[in-house]
Amino acid sequence: MTVRILLVVCLAVAAVLTPLFASYRKDIDAIFVINLKTRQDRYQHMLEQEQKVGRQFDYLDAVEAHDHTAHDRINDHQIACWRSHMEALNAFLDTRNLTSVILEDDVVFEEDAFGKFREMVLPWRWDMIYLGECNDYKHPEVTRPDGTFHIYKSRYPGCTQAYMVNRQGAHKLLRLLNSVTEPIDETIIHAVMRGDIHAYGVFPNLVNQDNSFGTDVPTTLG
Ligand SMILES: *[C@@H]1O[C@H](CO)[C@@H](O)[C@H](O)[C@H]1NC(C)=O
Repeated sequence: MTVRILLVVCLAVAAVLTPLFASYRKDIDAIFVINLKTRQDRYQHMLEQEQKVGRQFDYLDAVEAHDHTAHDRINDHQIACWRSHMEALNAFLDTRNLTSVILEDDVVFEEDAFGKFREMVLPWRWDMIYLGECNDYKHPEVTRPDGTFHIYKSRYPGCTQAYMVNRQGAHKLLRLLNSVTEPIDETIIHAVMRGDIHAYGVFPNLVNQDNSFGTDVPTTLG
């Protein structure tokens, strides 16, 4: 009798804890790179980054900007960028992996980026984690004088060059990105500020952008 009660209690505890551990998990199961077919130079660059971090990446063809849809808030390059991220999120959800990292093809990993990432303590509940970001890191509460690595809650996260998502986060982002009205990073910022997406960042950035490539996504409207 007591054994049976014990068994029920154990099962109940496991049922409660399993989803918590799923979101706590910090293994990166897959890494996707969004790469324009015409940008072989960036592809070569990303092969070097694979060597640097000692992981294999999965390459996805970026959506090309050619439909020239007239829009007030967003140009066709930004729409293409948006669609590319949606395809990457869908590619991740098509697998049975629990987490993935989505990369744009001009990123540069810091030394031992994944080693440093593994040492961080993840929050209990997260949808996405910016591994590199271009806004929040300037905030005095994010910057630490001694420069120690830490994870912080995003307030106004800029740039989408490198982020980690779990399955719940990917579903949320896809729902959010379903209709195109403004650049992808602004849409995500607004969802983060509303509290719809639980986003975090790492300080200092573990992944930065190599500006020498120039951008495939001009921000001017036209
Ligand atoms: C995880 O993703 C990788 C890369 O796409 C894939 O090769 C692997 O089969 C996936 N694993 C599972 C369990 O779906």
